[in-house]
Amino acid sequence: MKAKIASIFNQHFEGNPLIVRSPGRINIIGEHVDYNGGYVLPAAIDKYIYVAISKRNDDRIGLYSVNFESSVEIALNDIKPSNDYSTYILGVVDQLLQRGFSISGFNMVIDGDIPVGAGLSSSAALESAVAFALNELFQLGISRLDLVLIAQKAESTFAGVHCGVMDMFASIYGVKDSVIKLDCDSLLFEYMPLKLDGYSLVLFNTNVKHSLASSAYNVRREQCETGLNLIKQIFPDVKTFKDVTENQLTTYVLPYDKEIFNRCFYVVKEIQRLNEACQFLQKGDLQALGKHLYATHEGLSKEYDVSCFELDYLINAVKSNPNVLGARMMGGGFGGCTLNIIKNEEIDSLSNDLSLAYEKETRLILDTIKVNTSNGTELVT
Ligand code: GLA
Repeated sequence: MKAKIASIFNQHFEGNPLIVRSPGRINIIGEHVDYNGGYVLPAAIDKYIYVAISKRNDDRIGLYSVNFESSVEIALNDIKPSNDYSTYILGVVDQLLQRGFSISGFNMVIDGDIPVGAGLSSSAALESAVAFALNELFQLGISRLDLVLIAQKAESTFAGVHCGVMDMFASIYGVKDSVIKLDCDSLLFEYMPLKLDGYSLVLFNTNVKHSLASSAYNVRREQCETGLNLIKQIFPDVKTFKDVTENQLTTYVLPYDKEIFNRCFYVVKEIQRLNEACQFLQKGDLQALGKHLYATHEGLSKEYDVSCFELDYLINAVKSNPNVLGARMMGGGFGGCTLNIIKNEEIDSLSNDLSLAYEKETRLILDTIKVNTSNGTELVT
């Protein structure tokens, strides 16, 4: 990939580029909890966005995306949100300028193998790669944590998704063979070893992305804020959903609004599930971990209401299979992938059977993606 992107860079631009790669992510458990101030358990994966970058002599930005076969050129003082891949890059540049960092023009080529729209955070990986690359190129001295926050803000200001911090954090802080237990409120984190003896993490990509995904995401966020504020008014000690009990929700939020109650109830239960899941991981109890994944899916589908027909179909299809310890939809929802813990020897035959059944049912292709964990954003030397 390094040789490929360097050669494409030379076809479009001059100079010897720096090359940076930033991974996509999975999340074992703790879905839709990051922007609710709870814990998440993501890991970086071995699918990456690559960027090749070098300085220009003027104040313009030149971009070329290999996947979209598309060039963009724009002046630094003219950047604004767009509806193509450049918005993720320009969003990061905008954040750097807003924070007073001094950068001049640059050229960049973007390539990668993270499937777009699959819920593997290709956009966060791109933002993280760009933030990291600009930090290196212009020697800005920004810490990894601030790179995460810059990438997150770029997503919300330029891509319009008021996302949490999980995706960028996982991309920038990933460590091979580990998951990150991240407290999304304090941003304190610890690495936990991921031991899957005889099993693998397998994604089944529905190949659907429903158009309401980003607006529904922002609505979920507002609903949770409303529910939490109700509780905070009565219990001033409550700061985040980590402090909220099921009982408080049943007493004070349920009479106010059933839908808001359902959203908040899911979040409180998911925080409990994550804490238990960490204990299961530590004990190597994959069976118990798997059961929690199924429970999370149920909550995401019924209470948080971010699943869809295709995702539910894939979960129901594996639920009673003894070779699948657990499965759930992963990421924002309304399409994307399911995450499955599957016995190694059974992956191929299950994937074949499921693909046939899925295609028959939905007329869509099912992609099987076996993932390994990976290190976070880095210079490719
Ligand atoms: C998307 C967002 C994340 C997170 C997940 C759901 O991936 O970008 O911040 O909220 O959805 O867990």
